[in-house]
Amino acid sequence: MRPRTLIAPSILSADFGRLADQIHAVADAGADLVHVDIMDGHFVPNLTIGAPVVRALRKETNLPFDVHLMIEEPERWVEEYADAGADIITVHAEAAVHLHRALESIRRAGKKAAVGLNPATRIEHVRHVLDLVDMVLIMSVNPGFGGQSFIPQVLEKIAALRAEADARRIQLDIEVDGGIKIDNVDRVARAGANVIVSGSGIFLEEDYRTTIARMRERAEAARARG
Ligand code: DX5
Ligand code: ZN
Repeated sequence: MRPRTLIAPSILSADFGRLADQIHAVADAGADLVHVDIMDGHFVPNLTIGAPVVRALRKETNLPFDVHLMIEEPERWVEEYADAGADIITVHAEAAVHLHRALESIRRAGKKAAVGLNPATRIEHVRHVLDLVDMVLIMSVNPGFGGQSFIPQVLEKIAALRAEADARRIQLDIEVDGGIKIDNVDRVARAGANVIVSGSGIFLEEDYRTTIARMRERAEAARARG
């Protein structure tokens, strides 16, 4: 079965002074997931929010929280984010020395496990953990900031990963994160991505509902064309 197309607004580009309202707004506008970027100022050159904020926001919506950990030693923090209300937890392959252990601990906490790859990291780094994950997150910008330009070289990685998952009959969600807007969503969807993260591409638009609907339509049409 083909995995569903899911649209995941990244609250990194939301108004941090009214995060709860902004989450209500994208939930009402048809978002499937809330993408929450956690940055530690070490793995990436920026700092965002931590588990207490995730816990506070958890009460605001029933949408699943897709928590993207851009932090060093993520294995130390998995339980805390699981407990705060994450539904999907992504650890970066470059950050987790004990990647296998980190992914197992996410599943042990009853959450969906995902592994993230920076633009320059080869998909070979996840080949031996594909059976342990529900999703692979392919970064299409260098992590750390919203509003950067899409790096087209990642299309090849998305296509290779989808081909590998299909060949091994693994039902894998492939998430793409960084620089995705209405006008390039078809390229990543055609390559094989089905979970679409967009921060500035949604939150900087006036009409969230129309933006999310058009992204979904274009992604689905591109996936159907193959
Ligand atoms: C970047 C984050 C992204 C970011 C994407 O490090 O992981 O989730 O919010 O922002 P846009 O969609 O604006 O590139
Ligand atoms: Zn992200």
